[in-house]
Amino acid sequence: MRLLVTGGAGFIGANFVHRTVADRPDVDVTVLDKLTYAGNRASLDPVAGKITFVHGDIADPELVDRLVANADLVVHFAAESHNDNSLADPTPFVHTNLVGTFTLLEAVRRYDVRYHHISTDEVYGDLALDDPAKFTEATPYNPSSPYSSTKAGSDLLVRAWVRSFGLRATISNCSNNYGPYQHVEKFIPRQITNVLTGVRPKLYGSGANVRDWIHVDDHNSAVWTVIDKGRIGETYLIGADGETDNRTVVETVLELCGMDPEAFDFVTDRPGHDLRYAIDATRLRTELGWEPQYRDFRSGLAATIEWYRSHETWWMPQKTATEAAYERSERILGG
Ligand code: NAD
Ligand code: DAU
Repeated sequence: MRLLVTGGAGFIGANFVHRTVADRPDVDVTVLDKLTYAGNRASLDPVAGKITFVHGDIADPELVDRLVANADLVVHFAAESHNDNSLADPTPFVHTNLVGTFTLLEAVRRYDVRYHHISTDEVYGDLALDDPAKFTEATPYNPSSPYSSTKAGSDLLVRAWVRSFGLRATISNCSNNYGPYQHVEKFIPRQITNVLTGVRPKLYGSGANVRDWIHVDDHNSAVWTVIDKGRIGETYLIGADGETDNRTVVETVLELCGMDPEAFDFVTDRPGHDLRYAIDATRLRTELGWEPQYRDFRSGLAATIEWYRSHETWWMPQKTATEAAYERSERILGG
């Protein structure tokens, strides 16, 4: 099988490529990635010589046409993925998440290639902190940020291409991932690398916001389950019952690093900050028989801290630029 993975030099895409090369020797993997600030060629070092890497933009119609013509399956991870960046400048989010997805869909339609679309639970907006409800596949779309609205738009493009053109596509919407190779702009790696560099972790607002954490390997095993067994045209929610508030995450990182759990700072809240995400993954579990492997967030977090401790050369070059970008956007958003 010839597999085209977009965004394979990013966090989840790179982990997906590692897993695929290890578990599925019959799959011939090509990665298409623009290597934005979030893409890192070094994340694919573990599979060097075993995949084909193409440096390019998913919104480039000629390049995409050529690659899709030679694929049996496209798994689309490439995106601008960070909410904070989308508040500072939404422009690349519209380009990649909407125009890029549209470009892929048109090529997939031309060559009738099987397509799997990676998306997020943020398309559903947020839930109240004291609400027992969780997102299901029937929850109405209600995105809050430029990031989540462009992801919602891309999901709707896929649904329309299925209905109008008979595209052979599935969609998965997953909750917050953690694990190795995640860019240091994101919450968990930002706080781990803050602690490792002697900087106090930064908690937005009151720290009461809740995210539904899932290990990246569980996300990717679910993606392969949907590709192997999912029904064409369907959406599957991916989650592993990992609801935790942000303050608890920071305190646990500090404690696991042998620090005072209260050695963090509260900083200005993110504008429009979603309160809580929670996934009901019943359809994935009952219809497709998927189960997560990482059931203990604390031990998954400890392993992730160890990974960052032992891969300083992977993340250190990003760290200064990331913190400088945070300072710039705080100035812009602060008016
Ligand atoms: P990431 O930011 O780490 O990686 C994105 C990758 O896409 C990078 O390698 C980047 O270079 C590449 N890219 C960006 N624009 C491109 C373009 N125009 N053409 C080609 N490549 C381009 O993102 P991630 O966290 O790995 O997320 C991957 C996907 O999973 C995204 O679609 C995201 O919406 C979705 N998702 C993420 C999470 C999460 O917790 N991180 C949860 C659910 C869904
Ligand atoms: O739910 C899935 C989504 O999860 C994905 O679609 C996104 O691509 C991914 O980035 C993530 O979005 P969040 O906005 O939830 O993730 P982030 O890591 O930016 O923040 C997680 C929580 O931590 C959020 O409530 C904001 C808070 N936060 C974040 C940072 C960077 C802090 O308190 N301090 C920080 O420094």
